[in-house]
Amino acid sequence: MNTSTPAPASVTVIGLGPMGRATAAALMRAGHRITVWNRTASRADGLVADGATLAPTPAAAVEAADLVLLSLTDYGAMYDILGPVVANPRHAGALAGKVLVNLSSDTPDESRKAAAWARDLGADFLTGGIMVPAPAVGQPGAYAFYSGPKDLFHAHEPVLRLIGETKYLGADPGLAQLLYQAHLDVFLTALASLLHATALVTAAGVPAAEFLPDAMQTLTDIPAMVGSGQALAAELAAGEHPGELSTALMMRATADHITRTSAASGVDVELPNAVKSYYDRAIAAGLGTRNWTALYEVIKAQH
Ligand SMILES: NC(=O)c1ccc[n+]([C@@H]2O[C@H](COP(=O)([O-])OP(=O)(O)OC[C@H]3O[C@@H](n4cnc5c(N)ncnc54)[C@H](OP(=O)(O)O)[C@@H]3O)[C@@H](O)[C@H]2O)c1
Repeated sequence: MNTSTPAPASVTVIGLGPMGRATAAALMRAGHRITVWNRTASRADGLVADGATLAPTPAAAVEAADLVLLSLTDYGAMYDILGPVVANPRHAGALAGKVLVNLSSDTPDESRKAAAWARDLGADFLTGGIMVPAPAVGQPGAYAFYSGPKDLFHAHEPVLRLIGETKYLGADPGLAQLLYQAHLDVFLTALASLLHATALVTAAGVPAAEFLPDAMQTLTDIPAMVGSGQALAAELAAGEHPGELSTALMMRATADHITRTSAASGVDVELPNAVKSYYDRAIAAGLGTRNWTALYEVIKAQH
């Protein structure tokens, strides 16, 4: 990784939710000249007070810098903002020669389509996925995935590294999005389980404050129980799932108990039912006496 300090540059940031504001602030702290645009202009107030320039229109924002970062709810918002710019004959070439780095969440296919869309308009495109919440942007431990043309990534890495450590995944624009979604799959499911379990205990009159500290411990104990990522990867690749300490049959019984406890408490059963269905299907496939990792065989794409 290049660790030199990037020369001050002009950078445009479009989209000023918590992430866009944190990104613009991190770049400003490093001395870059920042132009911002947001649909709701008032969200730029703090950045403008700190020295950013608020562009009056998306066209002016794009005009202000060759490097344009987008931090939006999804890729549809990018087309909502930039589509009318390039559709206007006065700004038809507005994206030519620009570098778009879209840091928004969407599907890998949407990232690939957007890269082709940008290319047709004469722009270069990188996909980014920031893996930390807004307060951690630009702080030690922050990191983000990127994919797209390698030379393009390296040319802009000194600026992107101000957001967090950069992890370049390859030329396919969908790759950074895929890895972002995979991590968010783990994250969102864990968060939902935390709330589900809290609802379970509070339905029975146990205060959340008595449960949640230990629940955090359960979350952080998982790596020690599961083993290293490398070991789990090797086990999944081998497809054999040996072990009798946590068989699919035993785990299925527990999944059934969670579902029934939820139902009896009046707590929503959709999440535990989904988990239980994986165990049911693994057992139906003859994998009941294998390790719980045998679930992978019924979850993964069936070719
Ligand atoms: N928040 C996090 O912890 C976190 C962490 C990592 C990655 N991310 C990802 O980073 C991206 C930004 O996150 P955020 O939390 O800053 O999101 P956010 O609060 O939802 O902000 C989204 C931004 O998109 C704009 N927007 C949405 N739809 C639009 C449209 N149709 N036209 C114009 N502008 C539109 C909003 O404009 P207005 O202000 O006018 O509504 C706002 O500036 C998301 O893709 C998110 O998944 C978030």
